Amino acid sequence: MKLLGVVMEKVHFTEEKATNLATLYGRALDYRSAHPILGDKAADDAVRRIDYDFSRIGISPDRAVSVVLRAKPIDDWTAEYLRAHPDAIVLHLGCGLDTRFQRLAPPESAHWYDVDYPEVIELREKLYDKAPNQTHIGTSVTDFAWLDQVPSDRTALIVAEGLTMYLKPETGTELFRRLAAKFPSGELICDLFSRMAIKSQKINTPVRRAGATLYWGVDDPRDLEPCGLTLESSLDAAHWATPDVLAKMGPITRFQLRLLKVFPPLARTAHIVRYRF
Ligand SMILES: C[S@@+](CC[C@H](N)C(=O)[O-])C[C@H]1O[C@@H](n2cnc3c(N)ncnc32)[C@H](O)[C@@H]1O
Repeated sequence: MKLLGVVMEKVHFTEEKATNLATLYGRALDYRSAHPILGDKAADDAVRRIDYDFSRIGISPDRAVSVVLRAKPIDDWTAEYLRAHPDAIVLHLGCGLDTRFQRLAPPESAHWYDVDYPEVIELREKLYDKAPNQTHIGTSVTDFAWLDQVPSDRTALIVAEGLTMYLKPETGTELFRRLAAKFPSGELICDLFSRMAIKSQKINTPVRRAGATLYWGVDDPRDLEPCGLTLESSLDAAHWATPDVLAKMGPITRFQLRLLKVFPPLARTAHIVRYRF
């Protein structure tokens, strides 16, 4: 279908695949806000090209803030790694429709792999141009044969935002074990939900409306170290916003973040973590 000369893309994602529409929409709403944090124009352009009723997803402008609060430190750590290792391999797992490649513009010497289910990758290919140093792999990350498509002779950065909680604990840990063993060195940056967040998933509106199920809760990020990982940094949800990001927040979000600091168990329902291997 064409709308004002723009080709509109239909989308029929279900369950965990549909959750990437919520995070994409969150970044688009941030772009449209008075004080954007990510300034992700490509996300906004993509939302305008997808023929879908985004209002039914359960992402309000307030909730969009939590999407970008999570994305920002992951962007910052990824950019930091690429500055130190410009020839790295980047595996962007469960990439959904995220335009992190466009936001960070990795050097041409780095090679970036976006990995998600085949239907998701099919839509990515329609929405975005692919750079010469970017490869799309359409697969479940837990069908481990895809790992053979990636060279293992260089340092690697693995980025997995909003993915781990959709994996079963035993396949998630096996994935991380295989990744840590594959490369000579590298880092893994991901987010983790606590077991409480998994138990209370019914109150997570975008997940519930997508019909997705969350499985894997991790209370202590050190629990993943037996996969061959060493924990470098861990930020609970009260510590995702840096002072410059906080300055762009409205009073309600600032109040909510202060509440998280007062109630650490609430803040510990989600972590952003960085491991080395
Ligand atoms: C919440 S979305 C996050 C997408 C993206 N990282 C972002 O922040 O916008 C979860 C993504 O994980 C993907 N996913 C979940 N389980 C997966 C699996 N086993 N293999 C590949 N992708 C998976 C879904 O298809 C979806 O795109």
